[in-house]
Amino acid sequence: MSIARCHLLLLLLSTWDCVGIHVVNGLENGLARTPPMGWMPFERFRCVTDCVRFPKDCISERLIRRTANLLVSEGYAAAGYRYLIIDDCWMEASRDMATHELLPSEDRFPSGMRNLGNYIHSKGLLFGIYHDLGERTCMFQGPGAARHFNLDARTFANWGVDYVKMDGCFASESELDQGYPEFGRALNHTGRPMVYSCSWPYYKARPDFKLIAQHCNLWRFAQDIQDSMASVTNIMMQYSKKQTELAAHAGPGRWNDPDMLVLGNYHLSYDASRLQLAIWSVIAAPLIMTNDLESVRPEIKNLLLNRDIIGINQDPLGQPGHKVLTSHNIQVWIRPVTPVSNFGKKSFAIAFLNLGGFAECPLCPQVYKVQLYRLGLNSRRGYNVMDLFNRSHNFGLYKPKDSFSTRINPEGVTFYKFSVLPPKG
Ligand SMILES: *[C@@H]1O[C@H](CO)[C@@H](O)[C@H](O)[C@H]1NC(C)=O
Repeated sequence: MSIARCHLLLLLLSTWDCVGIHVVNGLENGLARTPPMGWMPFERFRCVTDCVRFPKDCISERLIRRTANLLVSEGYAAAGYRYLIIDDCWMEASRDMATHELLPSEDRFPSGMRNLGNYIHSKGLLFGIYHDLGERTCMFQGPGAARHFNLDARTFANWGVDYVKMDGCFASESELDQGYPEFGRALNHTGRPMVYSCSWPYYKARPDFKLIAQHCNLWRFAQDIQDSMASVTNIMMQYSKKQTELAAHAGPGRWNDPDMLVLGNYHLSYDASRLQLAIWSVIAAPLIMTNDLESVRPEIKNLLLNRDIIGINQDPLGQPGHKVLTSHNIQVWIRPVTPVSNFGKKSFAIAFLNLGGFAECPLCPQVYKVQLYRLGLNSRRGYNVMDLFNRSHNFGLYKPKDSFSTRINPEGVTFYKFSVLPPKG
């Protein structure tokens, strides 16, 4: 079935089978079978290099060790957040004069990256690092990988790196198109499995997602996230504009990356925090936090540790969801998930959004009501409905012709799992 036909069917809301289309020949390094989960400093800690004035916030081994400890002690690692990824601003300005190897900042990473990697591994975590394909890193802070692909890949392997975030600043379009596959081969040749995160499509006017999915485990398709509802909804809009194409190329081993979870910082309300987490789970996005784990408020921490929602994000079908409906300020986003019935009917995670701004009352909770078959839920035996934010809130059984209503907070979300019934007998 063609993608265009699939899109039409989606519009008619008559079937979900079409979202089963998957590109088979993706990157196969055995990694990222579900979306990677972890932590990255960039949105919160930016490029702070002054450890004298900002000792707790500067990009340093102190921050990384502190975060490693908190990932474990606060229960994040046990919930799945295992990749601890250093973003830009870890390097010295120049390579080693003799060996041309990349050098970590001597002031801020005095023990060296190999020791830091060992420490991260000793906590049961995985070690990620940032690099750039071009002449310089995006913050101008260190040398890019240009002309040193094999050396840098070997350096990372020697340090025990498990995940490489490869940015694309200061590289031309053709350098990107050749460079991303070539650096991926350099990683492969080291023999050390490393998740390969590419910013490739972000730098292209017309990205070739089929090609990108053949070379990368995940790829950034939108601009850097900011700590605001506007930024979250803007990235969601960019996803939904291209969702048929984006979803078709994602699956186990290869994921669309809408950038970090900004939960736990300054500007997302509790409801907006729920919204980002729900949508990132529906679209099978990596769950990479960016926050200070020491000061995440308890109610936000509970969201980040919600096992039911993490279970949707990490669902083994590996099928990303879509926005299926917009009605004024209400949106409905759906992801097919396990369990699957013995007739092949899938279960669904469904997020109902109230983006606010409704004429009658822009910032009120709003009721939305829909017959389930209109959303493509057509298992005649019906669905058991559970509130993903509160598993003790069980709604019981709904048949396809039944109406489901939900009351959604402004700039907020309700999020449910509609599970097909287990086989009879
Ligand atoms: C290298 O690529 C081959 C072929 O796709 C794959 O089987 C192997 O697991 C890869 N090795 C690493 C270390 O990524």
